[in-house]
Amino acid sequence: MREEKVLVLDFGGQYNQLIARRVRECNVYCEVHPYNMPIEKIKEYNPMGIIFTGGPNSVYGDDSPIIDKAIFELGYPILGICYGCQFMAYSLGGTVDHAPTSEYGKTLVNINKSSLLFKDCDSTTTIAWMSHTDYVKEVPQGFTVTAYTDVCPVAAFENAEKKLYSVQFHPEVMHSVEGMKILSSFVYDVCGCKGEWKMSSFAKTTIEEIRNKVGKGKVLCALSGGVDSSVAAVLLSKAVGEQLTCVFVDHGLLRKNEGDEVEAVFGPKGPYKLNFIRVNAQERFYAKLKGVTEPEKKRKIIGEEFIRVFEEEAKKIGAVDYLVQGTIYPDVIESGLGKSATIKSHHNVGGLPSVVNFKEIIEPLRLLFKDEVRKVGLELGIPQHLVYRQPFPGPGLGIRIIGEVTAEKVQIVQDADYIYREEIAKAGIDKQLGQYFAALTNMQSVGVMGDGRTYDYAIALRAVTTSDFMTADWAEIPYDVLGRISTRIVNEVKHVNRVMYDVTSKPPATIEFE
Ligand code: XMP
Repeated sequence: MREEKVLVLDFGGQYNQLIARRVRECNVYCEVHPYNMPIEKIKEYNPMGIIFTGGPNSVYGDDSPIIDKAIFELGYPILGICYGCQFMAYSLGGTVDHAPTSEYGKTLVNINKSSLLFKDCDSTTTIAWMSHTDYVKEVPQGFTVTAYTDVCPVAAFENAEKKLYSVQFHPEVMHSVEGMKILSSFVYDVCGCKGEWKMSSFAKTTIEEIRNKVGKGKVLCALSGGVDSSVAAVLLSKAVGEQLTCVFVDHGLLRKNEGDEVEAVFGPKGPYKLNFIRVNAQERFYAKLKGVTEPEKKRKIIGEEFIRVFEEEAKKIGAVDYLVQGTIYPDVIESGLGKSATIKSHHNVGGLPSVVNFKEIIEPLRLLFKDEVRKVGLELGIPQHLVYRQPFPGPGLGIRIIGEVTAEKVQIVQDADYIYREEIAKAGIDKQLGQYFAALTNMQSVGVMGDGRTYDYAIALRAVTTSDFMTADWAEIPYDVLGRISTRIVNEVKHVNRVMYDVTSKPPATIEFE
């Protein structure tokens, strides 16, 4: 039987990995490859269907990404999204133009429900996420228009016979209310997939593969305590036990008590039989960050220092055969493909190899998305509170302290964040939130406490709901809960006299402040 795979060709948009994720949510395996994947390779790959992503370019730009027109003759069903939609129109003889008004955000789209793509939508209108400055003005010969908006005469078009479909909006983001239905219709009804791809056997097969590969070799893993590196470490420990050494670098930018929590699970008193080394490197990081205020510079310093510390530990251990990394699929896509604009340079425990003497890297999670990693974690018996831990950025509190990082500021933000998390859990709303944390602004302002004047810091509270972290809405935390948090923070945390709540979604803001 032909293996069911959908191929996403990446034109450099910000949401591209979401497309692959959504396809996998339909239980169909999916990979993202660069737009210039050779036609021969595409034929070899033999997908059930192809999706063209969005991208920042205009089809008329000099260096715009293009694919040979031959792709439309291969007989594969194709769905073009945003730039992919304009590219399909332009390549096949339609007209693309600069839109009189850019459409950005949630938009009412009129749809033709007799299209296979829209057949499961509730009515003849739907809310979808638009983000474009060019638009398709005229469709190519043989194609019909299947959706429009007030601004956009062609919000979707198709040639059902040739199985070529395009949408100007982004069905992959959560803001497109019926986006998942539209993508499922493409995957199941247009491409003819059955949805047979499952995760359940992943852990078992991976453990066996690792065991065969590693044999009696020595394995080294950088453990951050986050979900990805924890799941990778447990997979390895189940496969090779004490042949694995985990190095946990406490950079002094972790949440309150976090270092001890990681040690409790992975250290000698925890359930896993692995060699665990904790390095307390706080002072080194604070010294390097002294006087630095620029966010990207801070990220870079933290990332580099992390490597230095890890390198020193690795040297003490001596030569190892394998290095484990908790790289997941979004990291693979972000670092290697497309032409997306860099919004923030993410730091993970990746990027270590060149400094450590080893034979090979093992990345057991490199083809999995976060929710898939969590499923594996649960299968491996990792405690729920670890598996569903909120994401925490590699540079840690370093990017939640706006401006210069000092030991004193770290303590302020740790204490405020601890209170915030405690009250959110008490209120029973922690499960409804995608991510929530306190940040320390670099603003000091006047306050009054007792009978005296204060001139102290403002804490900013952030809470978002999101399923993909690429887009997010600010969360509506009840006022009484916010009130309690604010009172506790100003009363209990020294040097804070003001608490603010961030009511900005992503986009236009990002989740973290830096
Ligand atoms: P932003 O701030 O870009 O964050 O909206 C999106 C998600 O990514 C997390 N984040 C990071 N994760 N290394 C990481 O591993 C990083 O450098 C980093 N920066 C942001 C952030 O917490 C949110 O979940």
